[in-house]
Amino acid sequence: MERSTRSARTETPAIEETGIASMGLHLPPLAMRVEDLATLRGEDPQKYLVGLECNEFSLCPPEFSIVDLAAEAARRALSRWDGELSDIGMIVVGTESAVDMSRPLSAFVAERLGLRGHVRSYEVKHACYGGTLALRQALEWRMSGAARGKAALVVAADVALYAPGDPGEPTQGAGAVAFVVDRPEVASIETISYPYSDPAFDFYRPVGDAYPTVDGKLSLECYRRAAVECFRALCAGEDPEKILQHFEALCFHVPFPKMVRKTVLRLGEAFGWGAERVNELFKDKVEPTMLWNKLSGNAYTASLWISVARALQGRRPGERIAAFSYGSGFGSELLSLVAGPLASEGAWAEDIEKDLAARGRIDAEAYQRLRGLPGLAPAG
Ligand code: COA
Repeated sequence: MERSTRSARTETPAIEETGIASMGLHLPPLAMRVEDLATLRGEDPQKYLVGLECNEFSLCPPEFSIVDLAAEAARRALSRWDGELSDIGMIVVGTESAVDMSRPLSAFVAERLGLRGHVRSYEVKHACYGGTLALRQALEWRMSGAARGKAALVVAADVALYAPGDPGEPTQGAGAVAFVVDRPEVASIETISYPYSDPAFDFYRPVGDAYPTVDGKLSLECYRRAAVECFRALCAGEDPEKILQHFEALCFHVPFPKMVRKTVLRLGEAFGWGAERVNELFKDKVEPTMLWNKLSGNAYTASLWISVARALQGRRPGERIAAFSYGSGFGSELLSLVAGPLASEGAWAEDIEKDLAARGRIDAEAYQRLRGLPGLAPAG
């Protein structure tokens, strides 16, 4: 595939020339099947497999950190881009797995990559919405002209862990997605998007707490309300059927896949659709996008973008994808992406294939050890 020629990096890029130029993904080296966790916690495996629609979740070994995860995704995105490190003028990381209250995760990643100099470097936090905000800021920075033709490196990365025995434990996970924001070889993102926020305490982690406090029912309700408001804004009084037919896929933030199914049902109610039409939409345009999420588990800021990466793979130029981002607290935004010339190649899929092939699955005994808990009593 021929890439567009790079021009002098002093001009303000035209709006249509800004977007995702390349993408890289990374999953950590361990995983666990939810059936094994169910047995360990004395739950029916069907609760996790059918009730939550989870399959496996990624885990990090003790020596593997959020910096490893984010830096490798960034390295992979850079390796697929035709620019130089010196062409990067901004690095921004969206995460809720920060390792320091002052030093941004972007500094740790930049250090690994050897990125320094006239570069804006910072971290963005808004629960699972932080990665989307980072990406939007990079796009807007380019389109404003402030970038003076330079590209941005954006990373969404998280390790999602709950307290052992917490009901959220089967929804754990980890993963990172990185983007070079430059010319829209992979996808462009429409300037107009549809945000909606309403302050809430649905999921939060006070300073010093190792694990989040989650009001599961409230967070589900906030998420569904946010989705309805964002999609209503997109449709702007027009027939949702007519608007949604322009999208080949609808991607959502995926805390666990059942949450997305329930949200699509709520959208159907809001649109006045019957169950059959809603199920058809879910099967055709939503469920296929969650294939990788079912193997990564929740990766907070990266979850939506793992789904988008899957949905973009193999798309023809001009095909559209909707992406609904939600972060507890709460903030949300609905974006529209248009596939570029490199989407059909979908080179980033090899990252997932490689990581899945290399990762080791741990059993209940090893999981207990990993979480610093006592081993299991010998059988019999
Ligand atoms: N077989 C099949 N399904 C079963 C089952 C079984 N044996 N036992 C339970 N279920 C189903 C329940 O009916 C329920 O499905 P429904 O919601 O469609 O009715 C589902 O499994 C979950 O059961 P529930 O009792 O509601 O689970 P819980 O109280 O243990 O809560 C979570 C688990 C994951 C839902 C909750 O901890 C949570 O919401 N966590 C995180 C949310 C989050 O990430 N929010 C922030 C970002 S949006």
